[in-house]
Amino acid sequence: MTDGANFRDSKQQKDNFESYCGYHQTWTGEPINELTQTGPGTPCGDYLRRYWHPVYITTELGSKPQLIKILGEELVLFRDKSGRYGLVHKRCPHRRASLEYGTCENQGIRCCYHGWLFDVDGTVLEIPGEPEGSASAANVQANVRLGAYPVKEYKGLLFAYLGPIDELPEFPVYDTFDIEGMVMTPYAGPFNCNWLQVLDAIVDPVHTAFLHQSQFSDGFGELGEIEFYENKKQRFFGSASRRVGDNIWVRVNELVLPNFTQAGSAFATDGTQQRYFGRSAFTRWVVPVDDEHCIAYAWGNFGDRGDPLEYNTPEGMQLIEQGELFDRSYAEKQASPGDVEAVEGMGAISDHEKEYLVSGDRGIAMYRNQLKKHIRNLQKGKPPPQPGILAGANNGSVIPTYGSDTVLNIPGADEQRDLLKSTNKQVMDILFAADALSGDARDQSIITQLRALE
Ligand code: FES
Ligand SMILES: [Fe+2]
Repeated sequence: MTDGANFRDSKQQKDNFESYCGYHQTWTGEPINELTQTGPGTPCGDYLRRYWHPVYITTELGSKPQLIKILGEELVLFRDKSGRYGLVHKRCPHRRASLEYGTCENQGIRCCYHGWLFDVDGTVLEIPGEPEGSASAANVQANVRLGAYPVKEYKGLLFAYLGPIDELPEFPVYDTFDIEGMVMTPYAGPFNCNWLQVLDAIVDPVHTAFLHQSQFSDGFGELGEIEFYENKKQRFFGSASRRVGDNIWVRVNELVLPNFTQAGSAFATDGTQQRYFGRSAFTRWVVPVDDEHCIAYAWGNFGDRGDPLEYNTPEGMQLIEQGELFDRSYAEKQASPGDVEAVEGMGAISDHEKEYLVSGDRGIAMYRNQLKKHIRNLQKGKPPPQPGILAGANNGSVIPTYGSDTVLNIPGADEQRDLLKSTNKQVMDILFAADALSGDARDQSIITQLRALE
């Protein structure tokens, strides 16, 4: 059909479609491999192996060994019958059977295949199938070890260090590990994507206004004024101040490199009630399983300074972690997407080359750049800084943190953006200035100064 009318229609269409450029944008971009690859022998994998990471929830470890994967390594986690924890390479050094089928003994783990017994540090304790005085068995016991990593149990989470043992760092103790009256419940949030995609969200206060508006409270939907801060090349903050009625709500998200994150509460605050240095809903690490999966291991924090105790349930912690329940139908996910849909939708490993970062992504650009520097420095032989360097001179080894909500009664017009900005800065200055103090003294100093802003 080529009558005149149709010809005119198709010409019209051509005119209207001139700005469509899908055909020219079909190339796929590369991920930032330097930050996304975490397996053994990769630069980022080496870097992450210089830190303690949570790898399991203590109460979920039964009497059998548990196969887990962390930083691309398949490992076997177990508790021997005398209560000691072991994290060892999966394959038995004898003939490579998997120790996930082994048994936990009074001292260590015994391989199912020929009964070799290994201590939690990998020492070969017994080779029962060999005759008394066997030279080959003696040789193995003198020279062979099962690969093993140190494990530390702390408040219901099992932490491990997968790096070189002569570089074993101190276990970091953050101030939120011990807040009076706070109930801390361990949880694990799985993500089917690279760790960097999940980590990015903590220094992205803009997404809260869009993704989480319907999930938490109306106040979250207010974009407010966003500010980013970097401190000692080790920690990063995305701080948002929003007007809610006569109040200004300052919410501080924080990241301590490489993967420790905190924020304000999920449910305790909607900006309508005054609050002074309310603490994070979660104390959390984003731990790579492999390059296409990660797990957020955390404590949910409940009590006056955290989220309401009624959320101290498996479902409550899923909401805190992902804004929605973990197990949902596709229709439910489309109707109300949460963090997991946002970050998994990027693909298993996002093609970062195709991103267009804008001013609201400045925190992400800042921390990724610093991460690269730490990784490159380590490749040149300079060990990365441990979080312990953030501890103030007078507070022992406790690391002060800032993830918080503060709601101040400061009336003003919606359009007074400068007031939001200056309040944001004043709150951050107060938090930074209290570094030298610890525990109650720090809290009280911060709270007193925050109240004085009203
Ligand atoms: S393979 Fe483990 S004891 Fe033989
Ligand atoms: Fe989020």
